Amino acid sequence: MSADKGHSVSTTSPLRGKNVLLGVTGSIAAFKVAGWIHALTAQSVGVTVMMTGAAERFVSSLTFGALSGNTVYRDMFDEEPEKLMAHITLSREADVILIAPATAHTMARLAHGMADDLLSTVVLAAKIPVVICPAMNTNMLSHPATRQNLERLQGLGYQVVPPDSGNLACGEEGAGRLPEWEGVYEKLVSLFCPQDLVGKKILITAGPTREPLDPVRFLSNRSSGKMGHALARTAARRGAEVVLISGPVALAAPCFVTTLQVTTALEMREHVLQQSRDADIIVKAAAVADFRPKNYQKQKIKKNGENRQIALKENPDILAELGKNRRAGCVLVGFAAESRNHEKEGRNKLKRKNVDLIVVNDILSPTTGFDVETNQVTLVDKSGSLQLPLLSKVDTANRIWDHILTL
Ligand code: C5P
Repeated sequence: MSADKGHSVSTTSPLRGKNVLLGVTGSIAAFKVAGWIHALTAQSVGVTVMMTGAAERFVSSLTFGALSGNTVYRDMFDEEPEKLMAHITLSREADVILIAPATAHTMARLAHGMADDLLSTVVLAAKIPVVICPAMNTNMLSHPATRQNLERLQGLGYQVVPPDSGNLACGEEGAGRLPEWEGVYEKLVSLFCPQDLVGKKILITAGPTREPLDPVRFLSNRSSGKMGHALARTAARRGAEVVLISGPVALAAPCFVTTLQVTTALEMREHVLQQSRDADIIVKAAAVADFRPKNYQKQKIKKNGENRQIALKENPDILAELGKNRRAGCVLVGFAAESRNHEKEGRNKLKRKNVDLIVVNDILSPTTGFDVETNQVTLVDKSGSLQLPLLSKVDTANRIWDHILTL
């Protein structure tokens, strides 16, 4: 077995040290990006703001200057020496341009390569990725002119984070709300991730299952779903189409991932079998309950009642079933929670379940396994095994994808 010795647990933001050039345009949603600047600078991301004239009518440049700790750029013809060539130099010093909120007007100008103010000229002169977050009235968004501009922008290689739907500032309801920060953050992170899972459909299971005894009680386990969710998030960042089938967990569904919520092992099996038909990679990180109560009691079992014994019935082993009916070209990965003999246990499971890789979790240490942010796993496949160091679950997930790509 080979071991990769890590020295410290990396829990740093994937955006740490990057520089974001934030272009704010004239929408009422401009106030929301003040919070985004705070979120970015808290992760040691440099933020420089440029504003259109209309944006200044909504939020003072002072707000953005104070939050970013940097000069705010507004005027194309500013004569201050440091701002003289801002339309060229600003993007040279940045890793990404984020335009948020992006009005219909700004999108129209960018879609047609106009350069009639500082923001549009900077974008035209830039050689770095541009991410656009539209925000506007729903009729403006659905107007064919705006729709064509959005298509044009995507054709020009700009990344568009789709606007959310809901109550709009104008009192109407529909699509047009500034997208939520979580999705914008994921889009930014994905720009700095290898896009090596593009074109792959990946099915991931996560969390525990709950096996009901009566209307109030169930059998379950300590799985938090954090490892499976980290796998889903990182696969989406690397360009995969991801379906996550999750048992009950206290985690938000990851952005840009199709998440299906299930409760019992039988429900999980049904969804997995359906979704596995066209999957390229299946990773079963869920801690599926091995048993369920044989008889579900429709009425609550009373403290003084007679039903003190719980008869159990074995649940189907979903992974073993997938292993038995293998489809050529589909990579199958299982997890194992072990307290000792990691490699030996992993190798047994690899054979018994007929899979390509087993990820063995160490469950005894307080920094690994259930409900913690870090993990230490051993990867066991046909050609050998690799012990990864203690890493954050997100970093562990990325190392698992790196390994799967070598299989
Ligand atoms: O057999 P064991 O529970 O140790 O194997 C763990 C692996 O098998 C995990 O990948 C888990 O998701 C999967 N599993 C399953 N169905 C079960 C039990 C476990 O798919 N009923």
